[in-house]
Amino acid sequence: MSTEKCYLQCINLDCKCTYDISDVLVKCSKCGDLLDVMYNWNGHEMPRNLQFFQKKWQNRNNLLDFSGVWRFRELLPFCDEKYIATIGEGQTILQCNDGVASYVGSSAGKVHLQYEGLNPSGSFKDNGMAGAFSHARMVGAKHAICASTGNTSAALALYAHSCGMEGTVFIGSGKIAYGKLSQALDYGARTIQIKGDFDDCMRQVQLVAKEMDLYLVNSLNPFRLEGQKTIMYRILEGLNWQVPDWIVVPGGNLGNSSAFGKAFAELKELGLINKIPRLAIINATGANTLFELYEKLSIRYNGGNVDTEAIDSYYAQLDKAGFKPKTLASAIEISRPVNLKKCLRALEICNGVVREVSDDDILDARAIVARWGLGCEPASAASVAGLKLLRSENIIGPDETVACVLTGHELKDPTATVNYHIERNGRFSNKPVEVENDIDEIIRELKK
Ligand code: F0G
Repeated sequence: MSTEKCYLQCINLDCKCTYDISDVLVKCSKCGDLLDVMYNWNGHEMPRNLQFFQKKWQNRNNLLDFSGVWRFRELLPFCDEKYIATIGEGQTILQCNDGVASYVGSSAGKVHLQYEGLNPSGSFKDNGMAGAFSHARMVGAKHAICASTGNTSAALALYAHSCGMEGTVFIGSGKIAYGKLSQALDYGARTIQIKGDFDDCMRQVQLVAKEMDLYLVNSLNPFRLEGQKTIMYRILEGLNWQVPDWIVVPGGNLGNSSAFGKAFAELKELGLINKIPRLAIINATGANTLFELYEKLSIRYNGGNVDTEAIDSYYAQLDKAGFKPKTLASAIEISRPVNLKKCLRALEICNGVVREVSDDDILDARAIVARWGLGCEPASAASVAGLKLLRSENIIGPDETVACVLTGHELKDPTATVNYHIERNGRFSNKPVEVENDIDEIIRELKK
């Protein structure tokens, strides 16, 4: 084991190769597996309890204490303060929502929504970018790049500009919601539309980043996940430092779920929590790789001995069938999640479950969440649709405390919302009517 305070380590138990924290790597150079940011905690000054973080609220004119990521910096101490990137991310809320509780069949007071749409770029990605761009500054990177279904590109564009770096994003042609595309363009990122889908973009961006020595900020980047751990700290903060029974999160490239598992494993190791919540990861049925692998093929982390042959043969089948993921929850239209192995580890740490939900269920749940006060984009509502399913199966009990992560803002994808109300005829559609430009006609309509 490294004696450094902080280092990178390959997650492959047969390799466990370590690297310096200032190395620019997203995969192990020896075996190609994913990397973790590791801490020798006793080399750091650590808080004795989670209430320690409460006092940062009194110091909100300090930019680091104001940030919803960096006020927890003792739990992600990889970076000297002088390199830290922050644009005020993480001012999010945990809302107890009885309207949604009633919709999913939970008791009042038990369902909480962690609304990440309040971030500066409108999604949870800003938490991760605060981590990745701090590392990018630490290593003197000049040009950041990512593949994206939209939100990563919006966040990259914002942070690259604020850090004085160049930013490039790869997006699948026609595969991105307009709100997100408008952000990447508006914030000044070079935007390359590749004729393919997200999985194609993800493959290309890794090759290009390596070839051109660019700084990759997809969630393969382990410093992204350090930032995303703080979403869980804020849920604990919102629950007055009580651990919920369940965390429910949509699954796409599986960075969030991986980060959440790491966050809870570390908090437990540090003695800052005494139980770990269960984790439910929700796929859309049209992009359900994790569901297939975990629930149908029973692929498990197995203490690190993942059956990679079974996974490779599943992917070979997808290729043979010419499978392309398809869901209106475009943010999670992904069939080759790059963080799969870390996610399986998180499922083991958190005794997790995986479910798939249909686009109809996602869109109905999105409409209900919006009606009860927190507009989110379709992918985000997969968490609520998943909770409803898990309640109907009684895997989650009515009195269990649940936090659903709403990953992105409703205005990211207004087309999805308008289509739901006008064309889709969903359970909660609210169709506009057209009348003649005539007062009698208008009043007649209003009296109906
Ligand atoms: N929800 C939203 C709104 C997202 O944008 C994403 C991922 C996810 C959920 C899935 O999160 O990858 O951590 O499992 N969006 C990426 C992007 C892929 O490019 O914006 P995950």
